[in-house]
Amino acid sequence: MADQAKTLPPDVARQVIDPHSYAEWDGLLDTFDRLRLESPVARIEPDDGKLFDPFWLVTRYEDVMRISKDNATFLNNPRPVVFSFRDAIEFSRQATGSDMLVDSLVVFDAPIHPKYRRLTQDWFMPRNLQKMEEEIRAIAHATVDRLVAAGPEVDFVKLVSGPYPLHVVMQILGVPEEDEPRMQMLTQQLFGGQDKDLSGTGLDQMTPEQVVQLVAGAVRTFEDYFAKLAEDRRANPTDDVASVIANAMVDGAPLPARDMAGYYIIVATAGHDTTSASTAGAMMALAQDPEQWARVKADRSLLPGIVEEAIRWTTPVQHFMRTAAEDVELGGQQIKKGDWLMINYVAANHDPAQFENPRKFDAARSPNRHLAFGAGAHQCLGLHLARMEMKILFETLLDRIECIELAGEPKRATSTFVGGLKTLPVRFVAS
Ligand code: HEM
Repeated sequence: MADQAKTLPPDVARQVIDPHSYAEWDGLLDTFDRLRLESPVARIEPDDGKLFDPFWLVTRYEDVMRISKDNATFLNNPRPVVFSFRDAIEFSRQATGSDMLVDSLVVFDAPIHPKYRRLTQDWFMPRNLQKMEEEIRAIAHATVDRLVAAGPEVDFVKLVSGPYPLHVVMQILGVPEEDEPRMQMLTQQLFGGQDKDLSGTGLDQMTPEQVVQLVAGAVRTFEDYFAKLAEDRRANPTDDVASVIANAMVDGAPLPARDMAGYYIIVATAGHDTTSASTAGAMMALAQDPEQWARVKADRSLLPGIVEEAIRWTTPVQHFMRTAAEDVELGGQQIKKGDWLMINYVAANHDPAQFENPRKFDAARSPNRHLAFGAGAHQCLGLHLARMEMKILFETLLDRIECIELAGEPKRATSTFVGGLKTLPVRFVAS
């Protein structure tokens, strides 16, 4: 039997949708702990429906897993995959005929999604990624060279965890280095725009309408940029992923221009701020625990466990949204066809029913079946790349850094979607 739907009190609802609570983190985790026990599938009606549509917040690991794996019942389309303003949805509908400004893998469901996903799936598998290893290692070396030269006291985010994954993604897309700052800014505007220190746009001071206009401008710039890149890769194909997308055929035809642009945009944007956040989190955990640094320096077999735990512990992608394709019961609640749901990965990855002592960074955690990469049909396409990048970077750091410690208070970004550290002051001794 379904329970009577419980709407969360306004202060709790605000906490869930307020980017500042994601910067504070511990208070938010306390709220998720309470909700998981009291109303694991909770109705949220933010702002009396003025700015946002109501949705169900899902906080238990087991429920987030069920939704992620059942993509026939819980659709990515047609409602935006990311929690957004009502106005943003309306604007997008008028501008593009779709609820999203960008149509990409995360927006499609079957039957289109598997056809599009298959195009690059093999490229992102470990066997193919191996051929990137030397290039990635060279980027890691150059990054650590810059760190060592700037030491002994630096902001690790600014010097290492921020630029490194961006260089890697731009390399796999074949975007020249001089265009990287533009790509970084555009990604911030699309993903993390709520933090004024990161977006450089003062987005937090703008009205929802101004925000939507700005993001739409960022999307247009991306589209123009990648249209030129695709043209080049059709004329001069290489073995990079940009060439795979430019020359892809689905049902006997090349991708429509909007879908091709969306494909580039998702690869360009999904791959760096996420990996930056888990990389910074891993370093924070190690800098807080010098003995752990010494242990893994001596025994590199500990590294994969550290990487995996950092990804869980940080959970850079904090949520995605789904829409119910039919009436369904979930966590004791009756969900109606068309209802909007937030699968909150932060809450799921801190569920004590799945992870003992979830707030602790435990490099030996086993099993560690976290949901930071999602699950099911949309599970992160770049998960092997993300792990490989982190492993290579930390191997390089462990070779070159004798010991490292915190040199100040790390700060988290204000963002409801992709979040993590925006500063990590560290002090180190080079080997
Ligand atoms: C999808 C997380 C790195 C490309 C996703 C999803 C999550 C996620 C949660 C959605 C899963 C779902 O809806 O079930 C992360 C995290 C990363 C990371 C935490 C780093 C630690 C990367 C990298 C790339 C990438 C390096 C590629 C360069 C994508 C793409 C999708 C995706 C293309 C859409 C897949 C689809 O809808 O079929 N990622 N990601 N990600 N990710 Fe990642």
